[in-house]
Amino acid sequence: MAELILVLDEGTTSTRAMLFSADGECRGMSQRELTQSYPAPGLVEHDASEIWEKSLACAAEMVERAGGAARIAAIGITNQRETIVFWDRQTGQPLAPAIVWQDRRTAALCADLREQGHEAAVQAKTGLLLDPYFSGSKIGWAMRNWPQLAEAGDRLAVGTIESWLVWKLTGGLHISDASNASRTALMAIGSGGWDDGLLALFGAPRAALPEITDSAGRFGETRLFGDPIPICGLAGDQQAAAIGQACFAPGDTKATYGTGAFVLTATGTTLPTSRNRLLATIAWQIGGQRAYALEGSVFVAGSLIKWLRDDVGLIGAAAETAALAASVPDNGGVYLVPALSGLGAPWWRPEARAAITGLSFAAGRAHIVRAALEAQAHQTHDLKTAFAADGFDWTCLRIDGGMAANDWMAQDMADLLDLEVERPDSVETTALGAAMLAGLGAGLFDSLGAAAAMRGGARRFRPAATADQRRARLDGWARAVRGVLID
Ligand code: G3P
Repeated sequence: MAELILVLDEGTTSTRAMLFSADGECRGMSQRELTQSYPAPGLVEHDASEIWEKSLACAAEMVERAGGAARIAAIGITNQRETIVFWDRQTGQPLAPAIVWQDRRTAALCADLREQGHEAAVQAKTGLLLDPYFSGSKIGWAMRNWPQLAEAGDRLAVGTIESWLVWKLTGGLHISDASNASRTALMAIGSGGWDDGLLALFGAPRAALPEITDSAGRFGETRLFGDPIPICGLAGDQQAAAIGQACFAPGDTKATYGTGAFVLTATGTTLPTSRNRLLATIAWQIGGQRAYALEGSVFVAGSLIKWLRDDVGLIGAAAETAALAASVPDNGGVYLVPALSGLGAPWWRPEARAAITGLSFAAGRAHIVRAALEAQAHQTHDLKTAFAADGFDWTCLRIDGGMAANDWMAQDMADLLDLEVERPDSVETTALGAAMLAGLGAGLFDSLGAAAAMRGGARRFRPAATADQRRARLDGWARAVRGVLID
């Protein structure tokens, strides 16, 4: 009997397949690293064929673990958002590199559009701002600079990563769920469709775009693993994490610390409008009904630790960071502003670059590592201030993602935010959220609320810092960020 759910969780640095039982137990996981290409400073590309082949290989391992495709009731897909793939409908092959969400190649174009006064209208329609982060300007750039795309004519297909994986799995179904489509800056998120004015503004070809669908339902099936398996859940990874954290009621807030850090506060069926440089986004669409969230997007979180390990060689493994941070009584005046790919919310400065400030001979490796962990709480605090100014003062923060497993960071978060921080026993809430959507789409649950039974227990971190300690930290961080913004 088909009772398992297969999730494809395609992130920025790795792709994974996970197998869940309907009661939320994780029965297996297969993971493969993805190649990051940096052709020039500020450019980040992926090979869509590699993403597909590695996702397929991970999925095949999990189907075998399940005992065959007949045991799997549904597939859920969740993915790095905004990254855009260009492929040929006839050959099924990519026509160009995938432009990754971190890529800054359209920074000048976005600045020009802002100067021409387009930002207010873009924000009103899409909930987003004019920043190279979103797919629309990337698509327009690719259409102007990669002639093979225009030459492909009707054969050209363009889509975000879930769209690409669905197309490959089904052999030609071209869809994108509303949560992913809402990150392209081409969708009017109040009405749920592609917007002609936005398509013209960015130069994106409507005919190449997918059909926008719900996040749960029976979308199509794959026969690549033997018996057919229906694809029943689709969501951007941050929206899936919000679902996995059961952020269903307005005000419920989660923060996911993966490659970047992304905070979403649920606003229910009300489309929020930020006056403080936050984003409005579709959290999910079910039965044609859209639920929204307010989002703060921070571009560098876990990627900072990876950079300290792989490029700087300051640590041998991410797991060392908690003990190193705890080995010194405080940060010794050292702050690290991780603007390695510019600054996202609430600053939106794509040209900003990272800085380590306050170094003296008294500072050592432990202080820099501690500053790297403390930067996560500081970036989250900057968002907390913006959310509060937009009328959403958090009462508790639910954290997840690989980096949230770091106890020192979780406690520092509670201390600096002066807020209770809750961490699920399994920090893989992104995959869980996709499993919940797929279970709902397959009819294993009759609502997202019922699917939340898949969730396990959680641990709470309570604030323990004094007001003076917090003030000193916040002042030091503000000085360091000012330096980065001025440069
Ligand atoms: O918007 C970008 C986001 O989806 C990337 O997620 O998991 O790679 O940090 P992640």
